[in-house]
Amino acid sequence: MTERVVLAYSGGLDTSVAIGWIAEQTGAEVIAVAVDVGQDGEDLDVIRQRALGCGAVAAEVADARDEYADQYCLPALLANGMYMGTYPLVSALSRPLIVKHLVAAARKHDASIVAHGCTGKGNDQVRFEVGITNLAPDMTCIAPVRDYAMTRDLAIEYAERHDLPIDVTKKSPYSIDQNVWGRAIETGFLEDIWNSPIEDIYEYTQDPAIPREPDELTITFAQGAPVAIDGKPVTMLQAIEQLNQRAGAQGIGRLDIVEDRLVGIKSREVYEAPGAITLLTARAELQNVTMEKDLARFYMGVSQRWSELVYDGLWFSPLKRALDGFIAEANRSVTGDVRLSLHAGRAVPVGRRSSESLYDFNLATYDTGDTFDQSSSKGFIDLFGLPSTLAAARDQRKDHDD
Ligand code: ARG
Repeated sequence: MTERVVLAYSGGLDTSVAIGWIAEQTGAEVIAVAVDVGQDGEDLDVIRQRALGCGAVAAEVADARDEYADQYCLPALLANGMYMGTYPLVSALSRPLIVKHLVAAARKHDASIVAHGCTGKGNDQVRFEVGITNLAPDMTCIAPVRDYAMTRDLAIEYAERHDLPIDVTKKSPYSIDQNVWGRAIETGFLEDIWNSPIEDIYEYTQDPAIPREPDELTITFAQGAPVAIDGKPVTMLQAIEQLNQRAGAQGIGRLDIVEDRLVGIKSREVYEAPGAITLLTARAELQNVTMEKDLARFYMGVSQRWSELVYDGLWFSPLKRALDGFIAEANRSVTGDVRLSLHAGRAVPVGRRSSESLYDFNLATYDTGDTFDQSSSKGFIDLFGLPSTLAAARDQRKDHDD
């Protein structure tokens, strides 16, 4: 039987050329799989037809938008998932979901090889390959762009020579990856890290500097998950989509950072994630109101580790799974409403209320009604500071002796 390869297909130049390229290099039949993670680009049926036109023996499109929102974006929200404290893991979250669909297609079509179009310099190759071998240890991976040295010029030449149904002039000067959780833009003139991003590169957000009326909204959370916006029930996908619109219109969620890739390279990345940043900001503020202090402090370390694991392609690892258990438990009381002002590129919490609130007005107030016994603080401070005070006294004695 002819060997079969399942290819993660985007519809772009590289993966279109990869179909024929893989067939030539390996003698295998290629099955193209595109996954809809809310990338909102070309019609997916057009993409499917293109794969067939480029020589795939079969082409499939998976509508995974709700699955992506519920099973990948929501856990990231609960974990306050932000790599280097900033990047909401846009691409890192979609890879394990795409991997799941690739492996399912490979099983269905009796393929034992999975292919992706990543280069050898990025994180995505790691996420695909570790993900695939984690879900299917019996499968192997190939990466034609990396392993068969497919450069852009060679790809264009190949597409023209084989008359592939793809417009080779359409390739953008940037490498862009997008899904409902956000959009990543890299390469081109952005590689000079002194260059400012230009307005042209953004699609999910308007220019935050343009004067406009502020927007205000209330997000209701249940155990860390958004369940309503302005009182109207929403699914996770609807919450992200609605906030992409409303926060995007206010220029919220633009990020520009130099990032430590897993492979050791520092790279400049521009992101826009209006819905994600708004949800992350709101949930984190509700956590401030409802999570007990020690749990909240410990959670911060877990959040950072979770983000690194996901960034590093270890979505299916035992540690990530165990941390998910902690994170769900920690979010048990993160229930209530957060009112946000959306304006000039910022989502700012301006009101919060919760049946689970640990904020006690009578303890906090500086006005009449104060129930906090300030006389307890004196003894507390004596004991709290005792170890470091003893050490300081010892060190001062030593300084005198020297
Ligand atoms: N640096 C980001 C990450 O590793 C974004 C990657 C975007 N991928 C792309 N092919 N443009 O998650």
